Amino acid sequence: MTRLIVLEGLDGAGTTTQTARLVEHLRARGTAAHGTREPSDGPIGKLLREMLTGGHAIAGTQIAQSTFGLLFAADRLDHLQREVEPKLAAGVTVVSDRWYHSSLAYQGTGADRDWIGTLNGRARRPDLTVFLEVRPEVAAQRRVAAGRAQELFEDLRMQEEVAAGYKATIAELSAQGERIEVIDGEAPPDAVFAAIAALVGT
Ligand SMILES: Nc1ncnc2c1ncn2[C@@H]1O[C@H](COP(=O)(O)OP(=O)(O)O)[C@@H](O)[C@H]1O
Ligand SMILES: [Mg+2]
Repeated sequence: MTRLIVLEGLDGAGTTTQTARLVEHLRARGTAAHGTREPSDGPIGKLLREMLTGGHAIAGTQIAQSTFGLLFAADRLDHLQREVEPKLAAGVTVVSDRWYHSSLAYQGTGADRDWIGTLNGRARRPDLTVFLEVRPEVAAQRRVAAGRAQELFEDLRMQEEVAAGYKATIAELSAQGERIEVIDGEAPPDAVFAAIAALVGT
């Protein structure tokens, strides 16, 4: 069955690792699968990556969260139209490393919540979203161990806010009938993967 499956979590939760494993697993089972990510590899996604790693910075100023909210939503529709929908239409299961839950958790925690929801109102609902639950301090330790340079939004206090944002987002979307499964992302990678595979089925 063709599906859009999304993996979500804090930076360092393991979404990139598990997206790759899930695509490999589906293919090994004979299911055509395509792995992708957000920010996407399209033009707006590339711009976002540059902005997140400090490109385009002007000393003494910060890029507004509302600007990120707009660009992430624009990237999502571009990603959907150019990459995700054509794959789904061709019968390929798509696994995306992040989707609109990230926008809601990162940019939609304050007064902008409804606006971020509106911006993402045309984005396809995933058939299944798996949230890899990892405490902010554990995610931070993993980022350090991996030698990653700190991106915008990655300081611990911000990640605690994002974790709360995810919690609210998951409750709200689940109440609307969206399927979101929360699993223990602090387990070893093989155990995390087994839990994802069990939810996805074959
Ligand atoms: N279940 C896990 N337990 C311990 N370390 C993990 C686990 N999953 C991923 N890692 C490690 O944590 C780091 C972040 O993983 P990654 O998949 O890049 O996370 P994300 O894409 O969510 O930021 C990597 O160094 C990865 O090897
Ligand atoms: Mg990643």
